[in-house]
Amino acid sequence: MQLKINSPLDMHLHLRQDNMLKVVAPLSSKSFAGALVMPNTLPPVTTKEQVVAYKREITEAVDSDNFTSYMTLFFKNDYSYKFLEDIKDDILSIKLYPDGATTNSEGGVASFDIESLRETLEAMSDLNIPLNIHGETTGFVMDREAEFVPIYEQLATAFPNLKIIMEHITTKESAMALDRHKNLYATITLHHLFITLDDVAGGMLQPHLFCKPIAKRPEDREALLDLALNAHPKVMFGSDSAPHPKDKKEAPGCAAGVFTAPIALPLLAQLFEKHNKLENLQKFISDNAVKIYNIKPIDKEITLIKQSYTIPSKYNDIVPFMSNKRVEWKFK
Ligand code: DOR
Ligand code: ZN
Repeated sequence: MQLKINSPLDMHLHLRQDNMLKVVAPLSSKSFAGALVMPNTLPPVTTKEQVVAYKREITEAVDSDNFTSYMTLFFKNDYSYKFLEDIKDDILSIKLYPDGATTNSEGGVASFDIESLRETLEAMSDLNIPLNIHGETTGFVMDREAEFVPIYEQLATAFPNLKIIMEHITTKESAMALDRHKNLYATITLHHLFITLDDVAGGMLQPHLFCKPIAKRPEDREALLDLALNAHPKVMFGSDSAPHPKDKKEAPGCAAGVFTAPIALPLLAQLFEKHNKLENLQKFISDNAVKIYNIKPIDKEITLIKQSYTIPSKYNDIVPFMSNKRVEWKFK
């Protein structure tokens, strides 16, 4: 049995820099036609020169594989209309992190007072630049995303022509907010479709499943499955594949992030097949993103075959999601 996917897209990806990038970028380009590349590098991507240089670094690492890196900028509330107009053609969107919410997010937004964000968000809205948001407050870890939903709604109401993408949603509250505002969209990761907090910390602590936002309750995962398996038109796949070296994960002060890029497609095929929803996979993993972002990805057909294999224990020094576990689909 074979499964063909046209131009799969990963609309939320961390490619890092230097040696790490050289390891992980080719693993994404093997599976995907393109990806939205997150700007939380060191230092974060905040200038046109950095966008151009980072894109070049990615292009060189993926070598001859055809792969489009859709670039993002790290949100700052002092980007002017003129600056954004000038950088518009080099980026697909701008990613907003609350200050300190996750890996390398220092210098992100410290206050969600609408007035302090207005100049930049109005310019983005006028220039048609979508806004990606890591939506978590500084509250109790299990409540951070649900507490952020009113902020999503205030922003969606204040800037009705701004496309706002709620990144890596993990809760039923976010799922419900989607249909209340025409300009709210969402990405869902692979790991949040598979795991709950029980898998992370219900038995022995599993550092390779620790990420932000933290995995939530079974009913939250059900809400995400409902959106993804039915390919809700405002929802796209975004892996949030976030590699960290093994010694930064298996450590006190474990870094947040789950590395899924190389095995995302086989595991999604397995999940959609299990739920008898394989016919919706193409939309979740490409067509919805094409419409939401109004992009034209390169033609790239990926073929999976139904043949079980064992996920590697490591890619260099990075431990992938479900390492050493069997998966039922593989790349042809
Ligand atoms: O777990 C996470 N890791 N969540 C994020 O939002 C960022 C990411 C990273 O860059 O490591
Ligand atoms: Zn991320």
